[in-house]
Amino acid sequence: MEWSVPVNSMLKDEVNKLNYTLIPEGFKGDVREVRLMQECLSKLIDGLGEQSADAQGLNKVITTAEKLRNTATHVLYLLKDANAKDGSGDVIGMLKVGRKHLFLFDEHDQVCEVEPLCVLDFYVKRDRQRHGYGRLLFDHMLADNETSPFEIAIDGPSPKMEQFLARNYGVDRLLHQNNNFAVAPQFFQHTNELRSSLCSTPAVSAAVGRFAAPKPASAIANVIHGTGALYRPKSSG
Ligand SMILES: CC(C)(COP(=O)(O)OP(=O)(O)OC[C@H]1O[C@@H](n2cnc3c(N)ncnc32)[C@H](O)[C@@H]1OP(=O)(O)O)[C@@H](O)C(=O)NCCC(=O)NCCS
Repeated sequence: MEWSVPVNSMLKDEVNKLNYTLIPEGFKGDVREVRLMQECLSKLIDGLGEQSADAQGLNKVITTAEKLRNTATHVLYLLKDANAKDGSGDVIGMLKVGRKHLFLFDEHDQVCEVEPLCVLDFYVKRDRQRHGYGRLLFDHMLADNETSPFEIAIDGPSPKMEQFLARNYGVDRLLHQNNNFAVAPQFFQHTNELRSSLCSTPAVSAAVGRFAAPKPASAIANVIHGTGALYRPKSSG
């Protein structure tokens, strides 16, 4: 596929961070150049999104440029191979993350209301897989968010993702939730300080920080009684 703007002109770094503005950090140009760059980047993101959905056997594409534009809380990391395509560069992987308000159950079936950083989509081009590029992208995201694989939630982890986490980070087991997310068992240790106030009781009290925001009174009851009000299928990302 031909791009009218070379990847190396749009994306300066090996890992590039994008948000709803669709303007990579450090990009410089006038209005016309920005529009052209956004148009080319959009095609590129849409292509990667389709390949990712295909690789995961999903019937809906999780990542599109339009979805990114419309979701201010999502961040997309793009991995570039500057030497590809005769030196004009190519994007070889992507990782989309964002915070989600979730109710998660630990190994003792205690519910916990949290808003973790979530991996919403993750893809390395087929012919580049198993060369450490996924690790490079994931490490960058972890460092950028000052977090660890034990503190994040994964939306609909694929078998390859599970192997990736075990191989690279020692996450040998995931707790799969009814809402399609999964976390490492250690996730709940990291939320210990919140547990006493937020877990295992519908009478939520003494919330702190962003958890103090007003919530519908019936939300946790919906989860406990399985009404699916907070079900977030992967295709929503
Ligand atoms: C998951 C993914 C992003 C990892 O990227 P990557 O560049 O291959 O990962 P790395 O090279 O850094 O790590 C390699 C490890 O990942 C796992 N892995 C990667 N590709 C795999 C494959 N085809 N089959 C089984 N395990 C695989 C293995 O544990 C591998 O270690 P190993 O080669 O020693 O067995 C990539 O495999 C991919 O795009 N898969 C298809 C889409 C997908 O499943 N995304 C996850 C959505 S939650």
